[in-house]
Amino acid sequence: MTNGKLERVTRAVYPGSFDPPTNGHLDVIERAAGCFGELIVAIVVNPQKRTPMFSLQEREDMLKASATSIGGVRVEHFRGLLADYVKAAEADVIVKGLRVVSDFESEMSAAMMNRSLSDVDTLFLMADQKYSFVSSSLVKEVFFLGGDVAALVPEPVLRVMAEKRNNLQRR
Ligand code: PNS
Repeated sequence: MTNGKLERVTRAVYPGSFDPPTNGHLDVIERAAGCFGELIVAIVVNPQKRTPMFSLQEREDMLKASATSIGGVRVEHFRGLLADYVKAAEADVIVKGLRVVSDFESEMSAAMMNRSLSDVDTLFLMADQKYSFVSSSLVKEVFFLGGDVAALVPEPVLRVMAEKRNNLQRR
């Protein structure tokens, strides 16, 4: 970025459940890594109101295998409020991905809440439109019902998902 204001922004946090990471997430990570000096991909340990299918360790391993080859990216995790995490991490901005207009409704209130709690702004990046229908929950549903999701998740994620499906089938 050459814009004066954005140039001062160096550390961004891209938070999410990443249960599992998808190619849509990776697309946002690549775009954000191109905008900011440092990008922390921050996995929420316990997503609100649901138990993740993949353990924190699995989510962390999948993200590290898929994303840390991109320069300036590191993977961390956090518990509790995102606003507290970004303050402790001394982040300049929160990055969120938008797929479709309906994502914006909930993201707008979350962005305002996070700004009021931490004084940190949220910047939105559009994932490539070929990922506009891709979500972690749909990917899980399709995969565990036998559908092909190879084009929708990074290769390391597909391997972990296949292992989990095999383990579940053996039970
Ligand atoms: O990938 P997700 O599930 O859409 O990510 C949601 C996430 C992790 C960004 C959101 O649930 C979050 O920020 N959780 C931490 C708890 C928190 O700060 N809640 C108030 C948000 S305004």
